[in-house]
Amino acid sequence: MGRGGGHVLVMRILTGLQPSGKPHVGNYFGAMKPAVELQAEGEGFYFIADYHAMTSGRDAAALRENVRELAIDFLACGLNPDRSVFFRQSAVPEVNELAWILSTVCPMPLLNKCHSYKDKVSQGISPNHALFAYPVLMAADILLYDSNKVPVGKDQKQHLEVTRSLATKLNETYGEGTVVMPEAIIREETELVIGLDGRKMSKSYDNALPLFGDEKKLRKLVMKIVTDSTPVEDPKPTENSAVIALYKLFASESDLAKMIADHQSGGIGYGDFKKRLADAYWDHFTPMRARRDELAADLGYVDEVLQKGADRARDEAAKTLSRIRKAVGLI
Ligand code: ADP
Ligand code: TRP
Repeated sequence: MGRGGGHVLVMRILTGLQPSGKPHVGNYFGAMKPAVELQAEGEGFYFIADYHAMTSGRDAAALRENVRELAIDFLACGLNPDRSVFFRQSAVPEVNELAWILSTVCPMPLLNKCHSYKDKVSQGISPNHALFAYPVLMAADILLYDSNKVPVGKDQKQHLEVTRSLATKLNETYGEGTVVMPEAIIREETELVIGLDGRKMSKSYDNALPLFGDEKKLRKLVMKIVTDSTPVEDPKPTENSAVIALYKLFASESDLAKMIADHQSGGIGYGDFKKRLADAYWDHFTPMRARRDELAADLGYVDEVLQKGADRARDEAAKTLSRIRKAVGLI
């Protein structure tokens, strides 16, 4: 796959995750797992979006803590630092310069129509400038590293469209090849993981199933999944069932078929189905949990990975930025 400058290079895959709380099953299937799997197809650039997290939180100690925790989580999920560049966004402050350059070609209506901004404001997050400009910084994250593919969940689709639109504008204004056109990778089967209440799973809806944590608490959460009041002996609906939708993520085809058949036949209660789901979920993350414990006991290693990643990312950013600075006339 070609990148800026006409060189034929390996495909670059990039994604970012905000350190705004414990990652959940939606983050895992929507972004982390695809990112981990795509490592086999190209070079991953994966980062912790700490600048972005500042748009919705103002606790310095919590930010520091969340960055480290997310680094451990992502590594435990299979991010391989020998194959991928793993870093924190703010280790490459150059991204802000590119965000500024992109702002100069960004029409206000493009940002005005972003749902994510409106959703966050309606949830009570203060409507500050950074929150409004969030998609421009995200576009800069992507374009700074000449990314080809960006694995994300469906909720980020519009931000990828903004990114592509800004890339087009920059290339039209300053010449083809100024930046590389990225493409969103959104897997249909996991584009929108349902939460415990049947809505989109999200940290902000208090309906999330975290990837890691205390077993008792996590099993209790599964038991909280909202179901209807069909009596035990009656057949139960299989459409719009959060239990089935989540079980599908973890179960084998035959176990899933059994779960559906047992819903249809009646005679088994929701408590039983939820227990099956809790077991499948718990087993799924067992190897990652073990890896997480090892990493948490070796923070020096985690810091070193992020440091090395930052060095690599900065080198890459310097090259792209110098190309873009030349194209726009800053040098
Ligand atoms: P949250 O909505 O919980 O705050 P983030 O916005 O931090 O999650 O999302 C991080 C990544 O996880 C993004 O790529 C996003 O699209 C993906 N993601 C988040 N929630 C889901 C979900 N319920 N289903 C699928 N992907 C999701
Ligand atoms: N906005 C993304 C989210 O909330 C995080 C993010 C920041 C990102 N920069 C990115 C994702 C660049 C993909 C590419 O999940």
